[in-house]
Amino acid sequence: MSHTCRIELDGTSYDFPVVEGTENELAIDISKLRDTTGYITLDDGYGNTGSCKSAITYIDGDAGILRYRGIPIETLAEHSSFIEAAWLVIFGKLQTPADRDRFSDLLTENSAMPLSMRKHFDAFPPNAHPMAILSAMINTLSVHEPQADTHNEAAMEVVAARLLSKVRTIAAASYKSSIDQAIMHPRYDLKYVDNFLHMMFSQPYHEYHPTPEVSRALNLFLLLHADHEQNCSTSTVRMVASSQANMYASCAAGVCALWGPLHGGANVAVIEMLEEIKRRDIPVKEYVRKVKDKEDGVKLMGFGHRVYKNFDPRSKILREAAEKVLAQTGGDPLLDIAYELADAALNDDYFIERKLYPNVDFYSGMILRAIGIPTNMFTVMFAIGRMPGWIANWKEIHDDPKSRIYRPRQIYIGDTDGQWVPRDQRG
Ligand code: ACO
Repeated sequence: MSHTCRIELDGTSYDFPVVEGTENELAIDISKLRDTTGYITLDDGYGNTGSCKSAITYIDGDAGILRYRGIPIETLAEHSSFIEAAWLVIFGKLQTPADRDRFSDLLTENSAMPLSMRKHFDAFPPNAHPMAILSAMINTLSVHEPQADTHNEAAMEVVAARLLSKVRTIAAASYKSSIDQAIMHPRYDLKYVDNFLHMMFSQPYHEYHPTPEVSRALNLFLLLHADHEQNCSTSTVRMVASSQANMYASCAAGVCALWGPLHGGANVAVIEMLEEIKRRDIPVKEYVRKVKDKEDGVKLMGFGHRVYKNFDPRSKILREAAEKVLAQTGGDPLLDIAYELADAALNDDYFIERKLYPNVDFYSGMILRAIGIPTNMFTVMFAIGRMPGWIANWKEIHDDPKSRIYRPRQIYIGDTDGQWVPRDQRG
């Protein structure tokens, strides 16, 4: 049903079309607002702004629903793998057996880094943050492949496989460099997750073999991070893509946006918070009080979300997965603190009134710790997981003939009459 929204401004009425999504979400199309009224909208933080139409991921934050290409996250978590979900997210359909074999071969063929790329690693100082290395090295892929062909689906599949495959190799290599160990080559007989674990933990004289539980837990972690509609990093990727920048440059920008503690860096902040509570033996009640009193700006990391005002469905799945993998690897005292914190917060009016629930990061760090991933690699793991979503969003812009450059406006609040003072007369 098409309808309009009537807005009255300075005594004049204007009708704007209302756009309806396939899940009955409603939006007022204000693309002609400035032309017809002279006004713009102001929505600091974009909490009420739909920046695009997209067919990739659907979230209902009030009902705690997340679907990739219409398929519930719970179904994918139970039956699928990261790579199958990645292909679904990017290409919008489930793989046939032939698609699966072809894509698997492409991932294998593209897993190694060219020798010239490996030389870049020598230039990073040993303590370089892996997110800085990851972003720089993804950008470097555009130097090694300036003419990446994305003109049809087959060509796009090759470039997507190259990025998905190389990002894992780069991530593992950045870790090996940071601990001054030999960079391990990918193996051609291992699947995506096991190959990554091999490059992270094998040594030239010692082959690492993950248990099925560890392998499955990491697969699940990556799958649950594969896309999350217009979050900060994905919006960044779309912003860069809208200028027709290549896929590598756009995704490198996504890595930078993910780095911050309010976004991908929150999984690190959660572990640091739990470690601090343990190290200083802070009673959970006391910590919750500090959070509620906003003492020193302390937040309960891993809690709250711009969109979910109910349980984050990924957090539920990860809590169970963390329990399973920790049962196998021997437990973690931080998980007990996490449970205690979650119980205290979920029963406290401050959190109830503000609809603050555990988000994906609250339990994801537990899984990564159980696998043996060091804390400074947590956000890199998020980036590997989110790569399919960034690629899919880049592709959505690239494939849209009507796509325009993203260029928001602003309300200027600065000086209106700045005076130039010659340098020698300034106090
Ligand atoms: N701990 C304590 N209070 C919180 C928290 C929290 N984690 N999150 C929000 N609040 C409070 C705010 O102080 C504010 O209180 P007020 O109404 O008294 O001023 C109220 O809840 C609303 O919060 P906003 O900051 O307006 O929420 P916003 O949507 O801007 O922020 C965000 C969402 C960034 C996720 C926030 O909840 C947060 O900082 N959480 C901790 C960091 C985190 O876990 N980030 C991961 C997000 S998920 C992801 O990126 C994968």
